[in-house]
Amino acid sequence: MARRKQIYEGKAKVLFEGPEAGTIVQYFKDDATAFNGGKKGTITGKGVLNNRISEYLFQKLNEIGIPTHFIRRLNMREQLVREVEIIPLEVVVRNTAAGSLSNRFGIPEGTQLPRSIVEYYYKKDELNDPLVSEEHITAFGWATVQELDELLAMALRINDYLSGLFLGIGIRLVDFKLEFGRLTHENGEIQIVLADEISPDNCRLWDLKTNEKMDKDRFRRDLGSVEEAYQEVARRLGILPESGPGDMPGPATMQ
Ligand SMILES: Nc1ncnc2c1ncn2[C@@H]1O[C@H](COP(=O)(O)OP(=O)(O)OP(=O)(O)O)[C@@H](O)[C@H]1O
Ligand SMILES: [Mg+2]
Repeated sequence: MARRKQIYEGKAKVLFEGPEAGTIVQYFKDDATAFNGGKKGTITGKGVLNNRISEYLFQKLNEIGIPTHFIRRLNMREQLVREVEIIPLEVVVRNTAAGSLSNRFGIPEGTQLPRSIVEYYYKKDELNDPLVSEEHITAFGWATVQELDELLAMALRINDYLSGLFLGIGIRLVDFKLEFGRLTHENGEIQIVLADEISPDNCRLWDLKTNEKMDKDRFRRDLGSVEEAYQEVARRLGILPESGPGDMPGPATMQ
């Protein structure tokens, strides 16, 4: 198995050069961070579960016509994706008050929002990913007005679809974070596509009946049973083999 050239190491994933130009391999680590790296830890098996959960959700989104970077899963911890130029925004969609929204406005966690709210954060660790308005985004050139229109429409469709999907397995999609990128096609056309990952690392998922948290808040808030919660999400999605994530099959050879 030829060693791939590492392009970038982030907090949750490592990016390697892919087998073909314009592709990269996302390797999902077990490392967990919170509060912009202020809290660090390991969640055993998280990388395997997030790789599988994100694969499943991206495939579902592809099926309903959301363009994404996802090509295919390679093995337990790696997936092949199209390389994009990441738009430096975290696009957060909220259905229920929680986390920073609750803190900022004094709205108790769990309050149903009158409608879904989309927020943009500028991806800049040194600045703690500040909340920004559309004015900032277009004035500073992080995205054009047209790109923003497009990614907003996609974010809302993704929210509608995923809210229903999770509802069907007894989970409330409280909020989640998306990243988008610019994909350059061979004919030079540039398309906005969904990139990065969707997993319990960047969604708030609450059990519909008990409101129990099934996401990274268990790590952030030291609630315990973090791996079990991620496993339960995978199990309800129907993608966790009975014997656990260690037995999840991947292709025998990597191409
Ligand atoms: N298709 C893609 N092409 C290029 N870069 C991508 C693609 N999908 C995701 N990325 C980037 O790969 C990195 C994934 O690593 P990880 O999630 O660990 O980063 P992170 O620690 O959250 O840091 P940051 O997102 O601030 O760089 C992110 O920087 C993400 O924006
Ligand atoms: Mg990330």
